[in-house]
Amino acid sequence: MSRHQSTARGAVVVGASSGMGAAITRRLTADGLAVAALDVVDARWPDGFDARVTGTIDVTDAAGVEAAIADAVDALGGIEIVVNCAGILGPVTATIDSDQESFERVVRLNLGGAFAVTRSALAHLLPRGSGRIIHIASIAGKEGNPQMAAYSASKAGVIGLVKAVGKEYAASGVTVNAVAPASIETPLILGMSPERRETQKSLIPMGRLGTVDEIAGLVSFIASPASSFTTGFVFDASGGRADY
Ligand SMILES: NC(=O)c1ccc[n+]([C@@H]2O[C@H](COP(=O)([O-])OP(=O)(O)OC[C@H]3O[C@@H](n4cnc5c(N)ncnc54)[C@H](O)[C@@H]3O)[C@@H](O)[C@H]2O)c1
Repeated sequence: MSRHQSTARGAVVVGASSGMGAAITRRLTADGLAVAALDVVDARWPDGFDARVTGTIDVTDAAGVEAAIADAVDALGGIEIVVNCAGILGPVTATIDSDQESFERVVRLNLGGAFAVTRSALAHLLPRGSGRIIHIASIAGKEGNPQMAAYSASKAGVIGLVKAVGKEYAASGVTVNAVAPASIETPLILGMSPERRETQKSLIPMGRLGTVDEIAGLVSFIASPASSFTTGFVFDASGGRADY
């Protein structure tokens, strides 16, 4: 049996050692999937991390992404689901005080990485005629967060990517979607000052930050066979903040 004909329900989670990625890995494993959890070489994995396989990946290295996902496919005997959680906040600073290099670094990682993961995932999922590609975008990509131009632009780019690729492969059996969270309690938002975190929280009508388990639950649904008629879409997880 070639690896593309495998019937294993396998999933790859990129950026899996921390925050949402770790919660998504736990949730998909609890859902009965075999999960390959990938992250940067110096990632600190949680104690007792429950993934079938852990491996290294750097989403800014397109050839490395291809190799890491191919290795995961080999290790699991096939995959149906790829979830990309790799992302960085970058500097939270006035645009006039920021620099071109940090803008390009954030866009390269958040958007260029999403493209690399998407291409590599398609290579394995299209021959199966089914699958799910799920990116964690952000409400910043819909609304634009002040002093976060690079991050907002990168996440708007992820939303455009998902819409384009979702439509392009709509008839293939592979869906391509994103989740756009508002602020979620993870290490990423520790890159903001406490005052800024309070500002972000005040924008959420529910009056609280989201939890990683709430994002994992939504990803679990998108990954499931029940979510079969939605592609090129951005799922909201914003406690009422998003109005489209
Ligand atoms: N926390 C929030 O409030 C929030 C809100 C909206 C969207 N997001 C997005 O959710 C995703 C997950 O973030 P999180 O909040 O769980 O933060 P996190 O910092 O806990 O997780 C980010 C993960 O990305 C990995 N990563 C960083 N650079 C990488 C690279 N070059 N290659 C591969 N992996 C890399 C990190 O090692 C880490 O595991 C990110 O894309 C982030 O932009 C976060």
